[in-house]
Amino acid sequence: MSVRKPFPDVLAGIADVDGWLTDEQARRLHERAWELQEGAQIVEIGSFRGRSLIVLASAAPAGVRIVSIDPHGGGDRGPQEIAPDQHLGDADHAAFTANLQQAGVAERVTHIRKMSADALGDVDSDIDLLYIDGAHRFGPARRDIVDWGDRVPDGGTMLIHDSFSSIGVTLALLSATFVTGRWRYTGRSGSLAEYRREPMSVAGSALNFLRQGLQLGWFVRNVIIKGALTLKLYPLTRIFGHKTRDWPY
Ligand SMILES: C[S@@+](CC[C@H](N)C(=O)[O-])C[C@H]1O[C@@H](n2cnc3c(N)ncnc32)[C@H](O)[C@@H]1O
Repeated sequence: MSVRKPFPDVLAGIADVDGWLTDEQARRLHERAWELQEGAQIVEIGSFRGRSLIVLASAAPAGVRIVSIDPHGGGDRGPQEIAPDQHLGDADHAAFTANLQQAGVAERVTHIRKMSADALGDVDSDIDLLYIDGAHRFGPARRDIVDWGDRVPDGGTMLIHDSFSSIGVTLALLSATFVTGRWRYTGRSGSLAEYRREPMSVAGSALNFLRQGLQLGWFVRNVIIKGALTLKLYPLTRIFGHKTRDWPY
């Protein structure tokens, strides 16, 4: 069973695992999982074929509970893959199981094959590290941040993929983390934003609002790139420093 595996080994181990996670983002997940204490709990919403989950589970110390929530229904699967497709979902589930086994973390992980909104009652106790990468539409993304984020105690961490990149996720942030005064924005690796749960003063909340607001320039850039990719205006994406034909994340 893999426990506290160094980052270079983990990165090499996910090289062939499909998914959406850059090396820089993997490093941030690895660091946050590594520093947890025995008895802590990690919950990941949206595991797909296991790429990010393997990083979290390989970095966490022994005695950390690791829960993955993903219906593997083939819906909200990736960029522009919104409609459910059970055939694809079953293929994702089979790849997920095999990838976790291959990485030596299968027995560390409890997989709940449900939509996140239906799984709230399946997870006991506090969540020390919450990673959200499930449905990216505004409604479900906001519910994940608010309902699951509520389970994170002071001092805990929430990481959200596709922040300031997906329109749905960014609107969810605007209506939740920008204004609550409970989630301190601590930075991002590409679209992987990190928040620390802690009470803030009015001045602290205003500064927190501003720090998140400063990321909206990068959001506008990403929306332009996605529009240009959709219209096949590739020279325009290169002006913005985006050299591949994948959607930015
Ligand atoms: C972008 S992928 C996750 C990528 C993954 N974190 C990785 O590192 O490759 C989104 C995943 O969220 C799952 N999903 C979609 N809607 C969901 C929901 N309501 N609750 C939980 N998972 C959901 C999809 O089945 C899909 O596997």
